[in-house]
Amino acid sequence: LASTDVDLAPVQVGQSITVTWRGKPVFIRHRTPEEIKSAVDVNVSELRDPQTDAARAKKPEWLIVVGICTHLGCIPLGQKNSDPRGEYGGWFCPCHGSVYDTSGRIRKGPAPRNLEVPSYAFKTDTSIRIG
Ligand code: FES
Repeated sequence: LASTDVDLAPVQVGQSITVTWRGKPVFIRHRTPEEIKSAVDVNVSELRDPQTDAARAKKPEWLIVVGICTHLGCIPLGQKNSDPRGEYGGWFCPCHGSVYDTSGRIRKGPAPRNLEVPSYAFKTDTSIRIG
C-alpha cells in the first residue's frame, strides 16, 4: 500500500503506537507537554543533524517518525512501558546504543541522522494519512 490511514483518536497523551507503512514500522507518539517542551528547548546548532522540532512535527502533540535506526537499521525501543528510552526521553537503539530525543533526533551514539519523518498529512484533527 502506498499510503496508510491512521485514526489517532484512541492514542492517549503519553502513549505511542507503531503502524506499518510500506513495510516499515512508523512510530506515532502522542507527546506530553513535557516531551514537547524538551524537544523545543534544544539548541539546534548543537545537534548532529540540526532540525527544529517544528520542522519535524506538523502538530506539536504528534510525533510521527519511521522506526528504523539510521545507523544500521535496527528498531529503536521507546514504547510506553518498555524503557529504556534513553537519556533524552525518546528512543534507544539497543544494537549499538544510539539515543534519540523526544523529536526523534539523534543525540548520542553512532547513528548519523535523525529518525526519518515520513510524508504525512492530517485529514482531520485526529486522523492522518502517511505517504
Ligand atoms: Fe541503531 Fe546501530 S543500528 S545504533
